Amino acid sequence: MIIVVLLLAYLLGSIPFALIVGKLGYGIDIREHGSGNLGGTNTFRVLGKKAGIIVTSADILKGTLAASLPILFGQEPLHPLLVGLAAVIGHTYPIFAKFKGGKAVATSAGVLLFYDPILFISLIGVFFITLYISKYVSFSSMTAGVIGVIYSLFTGDVPLIIVITLLASFIIYRHRANIKRIMNGTEPKIKWLSKKTS
Ligand code: G3P
Repeated sequence: MIIVVLLLAYLLGSIPFALIVGKLGYGIDIREHGSGNLGGTNTFRVLGKKAGIIVTSADILKGTLAASLPILFGQEPLHPLLVGLAAVIGHTYPIFAKFKGGKAVATSAGVLLFYDPILFISLIGVFFITLYISKYVSFSSMTAGVIGVIYSLFTGDVPLIIVITLLASFIIYRHRANIKRIMNGTEPKIKWLSKKTS
């Protein structure tokens, strides 16, 4: 049963909402536009606010739902963070999109929303403050991940420390191209209050 729950979480995470919304709603394959990333940020960038909000929310909620699977399936000894991790792997390497998915941010956030809502809200705050200052979504995502790790060290919650460290490391790894672009000054900055991000 444990394997079934983990597999289900991976399949849930694999649902490529950016691809689905782009193709069904706009007739656009988002992988061929913007950064090419199957995530909320690129959806905002390419398809605008409405699609961006839908995709980001759906990507968050699939992490939340995945983390709740142990309870739904009566498998409480299975740690929600471990199941959530399976969903994040699905989101990043989706079986339904040739294993080329997003950068792990929204789905990781969704897992934290289930496990520790206060931490989730705090990291959303860190994300938006960093975004307001830097205008880089990628940098803000990575900063929220690192602050999450630092926070976890004070909780004494070993599974949280391990999983959030894995998630933050994974998020930074998935942003390798963004880091290069930030360093050479070519990473697009978000345009506040405009209809689309640049
Ligand atoms: O969550 C992904 C975001 O941090 C960066 O996305 O499309 O700018 O590479 P993108």
